[in-house]
Amino acid sequence: MDLQQHLDELKELGLYRRMRLVSGPQGPRVVLDGKPVLLLCSSNYLGLADHPRVREAAADAAMRWGVGTGGARTVAGSMTVHRRLEERIAAFHGTGAALLHGSGYLASLGVVGALASEPGALVLVDELAHASLHDGCALAGAETRAYRHGDVEHLATLMGSAAGRPKLIVTDSVFPTEGDVAPLEELVLLARRHRARLVVDESHAIGCLGPGGRGALAEAGLEGEVDVVIGSLAKALGAYGAYAACDVTTARFLANRSRTLLASTAPPPPAVAGALAALDLLVEQPHRVDKLVANADTLRAELAREGFETAGSTTQLIPIVVGDAGLAVRIREAALEGGIFAEALRPPTVAPGTSRLRLAVMASHTKAELREAAQVLGRAALRCGFRPAAGVPVVATHGVRAAAFFDGQAPDITEVARAA
Ligand SMILES: Cc1ncc(COP(=O)(O)O)c(C=O)c1O
Repeated sequence: MDLQQHLDELKELGLYRRMRLVSGPQGPRVVLDGKPVLLLCSSNYLGLADHPRVREAAADAAMRWGVGTGGARTVAGSMTVHRRLEERIAAFHGTGAALLHGSGYLASLGVVGALASEPGALVLVDELAHASLHDGCALAGAETRAYRHGDVEHLATLMGSAAGRPKLIVTDSVFPTEGDVAPLEELVLLARRHRARLVVDESHAIGCLGPGGRGALAEAGLEGEVDVVIGSLAKALGAYGAYAACDVTTARFLANRSRTLLASTAPPPPAVAGALAALDLLVEQPHRVDKLVANADTLRAELAREGFETAGSTTQLIPIVVGDAGLAVRIREAALEGGIFAEALRPPTVAPGTSRLRLAVMASHTKAELREAAQVLGRAALRCGFRPAAGVPVVATHGVRAAAFFDGQAPDITEVARAA
């Protein structure tokens, strides 16, 4: 492959990514490539990443334990700070145990890879689940079927045709590209009926919804009803790393079989201690969660006033589907000129033809900022020839194509162009 040619093609198709330079902490106002903007694409939902107590905890941990961990915890040993955070997470979720991993991506890979490695296993994964969960299925090498997004009937049909086999259901609770919530109660019932294991990735739900910010399972009254909860520490908790919360036996199994735990260095003490301080803040001061929920409602209402459809979003993640990747990029750039930094999600993050602006609300945004953001986006969309009220319907354009898209290796970009 000619790498430069590949990059040129990505640019032509509106699929090229570049990293922008942010000066200072994660928002809500940042200096981006030298220009002050309002950040609407950070997962620092509660503003804890630079909270004084979180910073201090991270700095203290660096002084006490150093910066690196010297290897995987099964090799170089587990530090007391790891153990302490695991105990706090287990108490937070009401599970018997929790097991830290290096990141959310690694946790998904390790957990799904380990649980799906049982001979003859069938893995059933929501087609719009995060890429890390799909990659975990691939790592396991097990037969994997993607069910239509949130469609429990489709899932039941797939499960019905695999009687007698070990089964693993894998889903996000809050879907990062859609901002909607999985039908968790039905999934729990279905898993029980079919004796399937159920893994729920709560990365975008922890600190964002449910009583005390304990997530979507807690909101649905389903704490303790699933086999493994995955949670990233890099989103509302503002740090880095991730965990699998589960019972003691499952944790011991994962500590023996999660390849990303066994073959990767343990998360660094400053990140672990920072997450611990952030978790304490979440428990002590849950008002930030209410503010986040209220802010998300405000932005949805302001976007509706501008004529935007926000699909099935009920959370702090709000998509505006525009369809074409190039159009999403043009609107993003026009919004940036107006001082609003929103992310343009394009293939392979979303299915071809469903590119979108994806807005991430923070508890620290003001109502005035959210109103201004919606107005800037409205003007940007019009300037780029996108009439908000005539937006592309979201779910209808996804379907199984999204799963097929993620199933394989990196997509052929010319195929993406044709499909789009
Ligand atoms: C649902 C979900 N799971 C896992 C991850 C990966 O988490 P991390 O950023 O900690 O690797 C993400 C990242 O965006 C995510 O959206």
